[in-house]
Amino acid sequence: MMDLAQQLAATQALIDDRISSFLPEPAGPAARLLAAMRHSIHGGKRVRGFITIKAAEMFGLATVTVLPAAIAMEFMHAASLIHDDMPCIDASPMRRGQASCHTEFDEHTALLAGDALIIRAFELLASLRTSGLNAEAVLRVIGEFAEATGAMGLIGGEAADIEAENEEPEAGLLNFIHTNKTAKLIVAAGRSGAILAGVEQTALRTLTEYAHHLGLLFQITDDILDATASEAELGKPVGADKALQKMTYPALLGVEGSRQRAQEVAGMAIAAAEALPAYNDLWIELVNLLLQRDK
Ligand code: IPE
Ligand code: IPE
Ligand code: MG
Ligand code: MG
Ligand code: MG
Repeated sequence: MMDLAQQLAATQALIDDRISSFLPEPAGPAARLLAAMRHSIHGGKRVRGFITIKAAEMFGLATVTVLPAAIAMEFMHAASLIHDDMPCIDASPMRRGQASCHTEFDEHTALLAGDALIIRAFELLASLRTSGLNAEAVLRVIGEFAEATGAMGLIGGEAADIEAENEEPEAGLLNFIHTNKTAKLIVAAGRSGAILAGVEQTALRTLTEYAHHLGLLFQITDDILDATASEAELGKPVGADKALQKMTYPALLGVEGSRQRAQEVAGMAIAAAEALPAYNDLWIELVNLLLQRDK
């Protein structure tokens, strides 16, 4: 049996190999848009796609069948990063070790490339119907994905993140921002794989709790890395949160306090992982990997 790092690397390689085949070739009058979409799906840890694939596999659904859903998660994530980097949001010139989309292309292309990746994500989820998957399950996944990523989810979280710049850090609002902008897509990634695989209610509830805590942990460590890591390690600028006076965990609790908070949230994720019906070690190792990550 492969360990977690090997499984992550294998899934990352699979996604990297297949992801561009889910986009049109950059040709014709919109070639620049299509090239920008390809530029921005390049790189990344593929954590969300991995979660979808493993959540499906643990309930008996093959990777090849669930792959379009995993790619949809990664397209939505990439779109959120394109928009997050734009001058009107975090103004970041760099992403995944290369120029951010609007820097490599221009603002109008970046805006539209993000929009088009979001739409393509929904198209891919709808396409799951043609792989013999249960139509009710596919519709449920699409509905949940919309809810998790729209105004009551990722986009709402991004809006609150921008509004909170320069404000005094406050635990309730910070939790809202992190839950919405980051954890909800991670929850959707897990639930999508599990629902497509025909998971039963109790296990789905436990997986949801797990993914919620994992998602919070993910954004707490992202905040810590912005304050402590290097640009070379992260492939994106560091110190950006402080410069923009973002409401982050280090701003609320300091770096040491944030590490403690990360430990606590990791503990909650591990407790949920222990209650899952299968793959307990894999899900626990993923928590520890994200807790200790340096990129
Ligand atoms: C970065 O996500 C943005 C957050 C939600 C914290 P990742 O750290 O997963 O970015 P990639 O996909 O690996 O580049
Ligand atoms: C962004 O959070 C999360 C998104 C949903 C895009 P950050 O703004 O902290 O992400 P990075 O640090 O730019 O990757
Ligand atoms: Mg941001
Ligand atoms: Mg950002
Ligand atoms: Mg960040």
